[in-house]
Amino acid sequence: MSFQLQFENGMKTELTSFRIHKRPHVDLLTASEQQILNDFHRLYYGPAWPLVGETWHNTFWMGVNTWKCPLDLWIYQEIVWEVRPDVIVETGTAYGGTSLFLAHLCDLIGHGKIITIDIETKGNRPHHGRIEYLHGSSTSEEIRNQIKRRLPSNAKVIVILDSDHSKEHVLRELMIYSEFVSTGSYIIVEDTNLNGHPVAGHHGPGPMEAVSEFLKQNRTFRIDRSREKFLMTFNPMGYLRRVGEEEFENTSYVSRDETLGRDASKSDPLSALLEVYWTRSDLISAFPEVKDGDYKRVIQWASDVIMNRIDAHARLKPYADWYRTRTI
Ligand SMILES: C[S@@+](CC[C@H](N)C(=O)[O-])C[C@H]1O[C@@H](n2cnc3c(N)ncnc32)[C@H](O)[C@@H]1O
Repeated sequence: MSFQLQFENGMKTELTSFRIHKRPHVDLLTASEQQILNDFHRLYYGPAWPLVGETWHNTFWMGVNTWKCPLDLWIYQEIVWEVRPDVIVETGTAYGGTSLFLAHLCDLIGHGKIITIDIETKGNRPHHGRIEYLHGSSTSEEIRNQIKRRLPSNAKVIVILDSDHSKEHVLRELMIYSEFVSTGSYIIVEDTNLNGHPVAGHHGPGPMEAVSEFLKQNRTFRIDRSREKFLMTFNPMGYLRRVGEEEFENTSYVSRDETLGRDASKSDPLSALLEVYWTRSDLISAFPEVKDGDYKRVIQWASDVIMNRIDAHARLKPYADWYRTRTI
């Protein structure tokens, strides 16, 4: 079979199964599906602070108030299981429900501790041998030093940013805390849904905008949209995975990160597809006969395949023009 035919067949199979198997469907929602999701998200989230509703604000882990969407907590569980962190750093403790939830996960795994930081001490925080509470602002030099001192060298670290949700503060936190995160692990930016993504439209620039700004300057984190697989998340584009230099250099695809400047509520299936499939390493293993310098041509050719030949995926066509303008 010729290389071209082989590639084309591969792409057809890929596209056919893509929606089901390959990507979080959050990237491939139709406009009406996205509308349903946004409407449900706003309904669930309820009115803005301080008139908060009876959902996330009224959620408890083992009797302790936990300001989270349970679907995100399940994702936390999956990440903790995979990463098996030595330390989880949480900024913004509130009542300590998430800290306790994480500590119990670590109990089940038999490893790990939680360092959690807040400027206030709310309620009766839970006591647990794996939880350490720090008092102070998450962006202060003092807290930064305290955390540094507590992290063993080469520690596997997950960071969760959930304190002050203004853009400036979260960006500052991203700058400080990203350096603690180990390769393959995550910095989770909570509440990127604020400022109209899709809730709290009047919030002003917040976590989502901070992520966008941060990723312009940082080349070692990628948004992992597979963590949005349950569709509903308070952290859209907020699960950032630290990738190694090598992985970063070997991925020549158009990154979803770069599409952040676009309307996040619009699905962007082509770039999503590229993210998954057309990484340099995928191409090398799928088509070892292709010479190094030819990848750009191959990718261009494949975008032609999508644009011209796979009618079932006509929805991809509008994105092809945009894609052509990008530098690989
Ligand atoms: C959204 S709540 C945290 C919810 C908590 N992580 C949970 O899952 O239940 C935000 C918390 O951040 C704290 N906070 C606000 N500004 C802060 C700062 N500069 N440094 C540390 N904590 C801060 C607030 O006191 C508040 O308790």
